[in-house]
Amino acid sequence: MRTKIVAGNWKLNNDKEESKKLIKKLKKAIKDTKLKNTRVIVAPTFVNLASSVKAAKKSKIEVVAQNMHQASNGAFTGEVSADMLKAIGVETVILGHSERRTYFNETDAALAEKVTTVLEKGMEAIFCFGELLEDRKSENHFAVVESQLKNGLFHIEAKDWKNIILAYEPVWAIGTGETASPEQAQEMHAFIRGIIEKQYDKKVADKVSILYGGSVKPANAEEIFSKPDVDGGLIGGAALKVEDFTGIINAI
Ligand code: PGA
Repeated sequence: MRTKIVAGNWKLNNDKEESKKLIKKLKKAIKDTKLKNTRVIVAPTFVNLASSVKAAKKSKIEVVAQNMHQASNGAFTGEVSADMLKAIGVETVILGHSERRTYFNETDAALAEKVTTVLEKGMEAIFCFGELLEDRKSENHFAVVESQLKNGLFHIEAKDWKNIILAYEPVWAIGTGETASPEQAQEMHAFIRGIIEKQYDKKVADKVSILYGGSVKPANAEEIFSKPDVDGGLIGGAALKVEDFTGIINAI
């Protein structure tokens, strides 16, 4: 059985106190929820990771990073390394979010290096990818997704996939209120599993959790999560309110 995951990407939101408060509220809200085979993840900003890890202690909430640099150290002003994250108890990192790709020029090549570092350090990646609106309109969405996966991930070995979570996030659905239909999500997730099977094998493809991201809300979560190849969600805006995030967790 594949692991289900509901992950909240807080982006550039929540200061130290707000982060702690949100985690405490969430802790309380899901205390009695049966999370069978389900992981609950939140991704605060770098400066609030350590205090968030502390706040999430003895709970079902995992705290992960939104990004990391591929180098272990060196002249990379403003960056954070894998070891620095591990030292404060962070074992998982989101890589390749479309906002990183668009606003910070993260390339497939840099992401491939980040993935390598994550695996070398024994960490886990939530690897994000997805097509732009123009790609979908020109019916290039499958080709774009395939090339993002190939260039960013397909250099890893079959055994490494146990440390990879995928997040398909059509860029046109992120923060826009627009969602891929459950059918569109399922179609793409099945396609993704298919190319992984082709490149590796059925075991790898069947095992990897593929999350959907892009305007998931309590109102649409259940339908999206009901699709056989959708194993959870990467949630932006709706992860900032405990009621909404809990609603999404309950929909899985
Ligand atoms: P959204 O963001 O839920 O606000 O659309 C999703 C994401 O960026 O992961």
